[in-house]
Amino acid sequence: MAILEIRNLRKVFGSVIANDDVNLSLEAGETHAILGENGAGKSTLIKMISGLYKPDYGQILLNGVEQHFANPREAIIAGIGVVHQHFMLIPALSVAENVVLGSEGGRFLFRKKQAIDNVLRISKELGLPLDPAIKVQDLPVGMQQRVEIVKALYRNARILILDEPTAVLTPQETEELFAVVRRLNQDQIPVIFISHKLDEVREIADRITVMRAGKSVHTMPIADATAKELAQLMVGREVVLETLKTPAQAGEVVLRVENLSVRDDRKTTRVKNVSFEVRTGEIFGIAGVDGNGQTELVEAIVGLRKLEGGKIHFLDKNITSENVSSRIQHGIGYVPQDRQRDGLVLQFTVADNLVLRSVGAKPFSKSGWLQKKSTRANAEKLIKEFDIRPPLEDVQVGSLSGGNQQKVILAREMAREPMLLIAVQPTRGLDVGAIEGIHRHLLSLCEQGKAVLLVSLELEEIMQLSDRIGVMHAGELVTVMDAKAATRESLGLAMTGERVEEGVAP
Ligand SMILES: Nc1ncnc2c1ncn2[C@@H]1O[C@H](COP(=O)(O)OP(=O)(O)OP(=O)(O)O)[C@@H](O)[C@H]1O
Ligand SMILES: [Mg+2]
Repeated sequence: MAILEIRNLRKVFGSVIANDDVNLSLEAGETHAILGENGAGKSTLIKMISGLYKPDYGQILLNGVEQHFANPREAIIAGIGVVHQHFMLIPALSVAENVVLGSEGGRFLFRKKQAIDNVLRISKELGLPLDPAIKVQDLPVGMQQRVEIVKALYRNARILILDEPTAVLTPQETEELFAVVRRLNQDQIPVIFISHKLDEVREIADRITVMRAGKSVHTMPIADATAKELAQLMVGREVVLETLKTPAQAGEVVLRVENLSVRDDRKTTRVKNVSFEVRTGEIFGIAGVDGNGQTELVEAIVGLRKLEGGKIHFLDKNITSENVSSRIQHGIGYVPQDRQRDGLVLQFTVADNLVLRSVGAKPFSKSGWLQKKSTRANAEKLIKEFDIRPPLEDVQVGSLSGGNQQKVILAREMAREPMLLIAVQPTRGLDVGAIEGIHRHLLSLCEQGKAVLLVSLELEEIMQLSDRIGVMHAGELVTVMDAKAATRESLGLAMTGERVEEGVAP
């Protein structure tokens, strides 16, 4: 008998059919991947299984017994552990507090010592080391995910559901997560694994279910699935898995960074004496293992972080002491790493989020008031251009699927036609079809004579799009090479801190 069985599940939001006749079975000890385009209904399915949403129709069975979860608590008690796509932790609380929160009976009874011991024990058993005393807000996303996993297992989950867990992980962290998944499978705990990365799915899953437009369209053993076939099943058409790039006509310098040094919140120097230039017409890619100073570098350029030393010039102007909004006014576009924290106002509509950076500017504002008509026209245009789904401008951005939220940020930042677009992990969480679209948009910015600073953990993406590639390691820009000369090996080597001969690129 299947541990979990989903029968004919359906969920409708207004005019959007998010799930329609979804069927799925989960066997003991298996890892079952769910693949599907942005907005296909994966997270909605998970939210029904975990008691956040009530199905409109259909059944959820655990070990053959039908369940009616009134709330997430009941699902947890039934043994369902979920790490949602957007984490549900409380940033101001410590790791230990977050883990035990809600499982200490009705009252908020927090036994600190015991909680800390439990976190240490579980994270050690899992092979996912964690510091129980640290506040969640001070943790990088990869670590926050560990907290979510430990939290689920602390509550004795007998099924673990991971909604796009690897979108926020480095390749190294992904391997560590896979080891955890394998260990859980050995203990007969099945795992539902949602991802857009086909090769990952092929590595970790036993079976795959593909979802398209709210329906479960196909389930198959992993051995039967080729990447091309899966992509096609997902998107319903043939997908170009590689973007064609024409070499840039690099022009004048847009951004010049000189001897930049930056500290993080804990006063550790994370960027050390970094200098480089980005020119019009080019994509300058920054590769590196996560946590090697890329985030701090970008935040310093955008103006979110003070410099310890160095200078930043933008279009011949020294902007070192200017604030974020004036840098943005000068023509810098910014796609941040954490879309929900820094990129969007989740309660606002799609249309309003699409003009967030232009508030106060014509044609969207007049004497401080948002102009409805131009805001709506702008939204309609961008929704079409960037294929934001559902194509409705007046829904809350928070109700969009993760990938579609990402498209909203990209659309807004690109539509302003910034002279320089700084994009951190721009295709994170996007499906293969959407990635194709975003890559085309980035390349077209360059063709229009704009510049792009691309930070990505995906080597393939960096290599496909960049004209020049800088590699960061331990806060230093260890090399800058011409993309034509870069190979996976040379980049990989540089990412470990190995110095590659400099001066290959201008
Ligand atoms: N709370 C909600 N209110 C209104 N619409 C919603 C809500 N939640 C989801 N939807 C809609 O349901 C559809 C499915 O969304 P869902 O988040 O399940 O997609 P997904 O497959 O997880 O996509 P992604 O890969 O981008 O995360 C989308 O069209 C989305 O806009
Ligand atoms: Mg989702």
